[in-house]
Amino acid sequence: MLVSKLPNVGTTIFTRMSQLALETGAINLSQGFPDFDGPQALREAVARHVMEGRNQYSPMTGLPSLRQQVAAKIARSYGVQRDADSEITITPGATEAIFCAVQALIHPGDEAIVLDPCYDSYEPSVELAGGRCVHVPLALPDFAVDWQRLADAITPRTRLIFLNSPHNPSGALLTRTDLDKLAELIRGHDIHVISDEVYEHLIYDGQRHASVLAHEELYQRAFVVSSFGKTYHVTGWKTGYVVAPPALTAELRKIHQYVNFCGVTPLQFALADFMAAHPEHVEELPAFYQAKRDLFCDLLAGSRFTFSRAPGTYFQLADYSAIRPDLDDVAMAEWLTREHGVAAIPVSVFYQSAPKEMRLVRFCFAKREETLRQAAEKLSAV
Ligand SMILES: Cc1ncc(COP(=O)(O)O)c(C=O)c1O
Repeated sequence: MLVSKLPNVGTTIFTRMSQLALETGAINLSQGFPDFDGPQALREAVARHVMEGRNQYSPMTGLPSLRQQVAAKIARSYGVQRDADSEITITPGATEAIFCAVQALIHPGDEAIVLDPCYDSYEPSVELAGGRCVHVPLALPDFAVDWQRLADAITPRTRLIFLNSPHNPSGALLTRTDLDKLAELIRGHDIHVISDEVYEHLIYDGQRHASVLAHEELYQRAFVVSSFGKTYHVTGWKTGYVVAPPALTAELRKIHQYVNFCGVTPLQFALADFMAAHPEHVEELPAFYQAKRDLFCDLLAGSRFTFSRAPGTYFQLADYSAIRPDLDDVAMAEWLTREHGVAAIPVSVFYQSAPKEMRLVRFCFAKREETLRQAAEKLSAV
């Protein structure tokens, strides 16, 4: 008989809510992907490279031209040089990068600290490596790091701390001061960091992303992960990258080469072309998504939901205490979908144990204007 290695993992809420949205015809603001296409030039480039025969395996580390474009983007965004050959690896999605980084770091019996609420792939990756996650909740209402609780969670077995900024589901941002505090906290300990920065370019109100790539001390013990899917509106391409110092990169690549070996070749050619021709795409992203956030929030201003605008990501949290305080958030998300035609994600599913009084749902605003208008109209009638 097969003994499950992940006995507590079932169908995720993302699959369930999208399914329910489909069954009920609800507007799907649950799962985090755009309902519009990536740039035309990018899509045309894929077609061209496929037709021109770039359809065989790419190098295990990723296409050199794409790694160079990533290095150039990092230099423009954060003012640091990361080496395309020894520090940057292209992966089939940020999720594969996270998985491989965890396998490289965690041995049986090791502990990894996650800050709840957190992305759902972290814990299974740690468990498959034989490790255990220690959950430290972020402090409400701003989802800030509780430094005392984090310090208290560190034990001699701690090998890894996960960071995620801009943060899914809350949109919260880590500051440079936060990175300094973390560096101080783990100085002298054998602890590494996986910094999940897939929403690095989705950041609003003139704020700047504090990347671990630009924090020399933390970077020396970090894997920094990002996703072309989020940045270029092509989540279904499942193409990402991971940046780490050479010794860490070498260990990660040992694993990556047996998990997938390489990413999808024509997609990498297309991304390299597009990044070279359109460096402005990344600079225009904050205004592009901020306009969507503001449209959605302005339209919801008269509703009975309460919220403060997300500082980053393409997710907006909303508190429904004034509407159905009797419902927990899973029941609320189902009720909203069935009765009011808008699918959302309950925030408690991102926790090991969510605060009982939490009454928050997450909406994805990576949607066309008409989708946001229709959804907001329905939500305003709730
Ligand atoms: C915080 C976070 N990390 C990683 C990912 C996965 O990115 P990818 O689709 O490139 O694997 C997501 C996608 O939703 C995410 O929200």
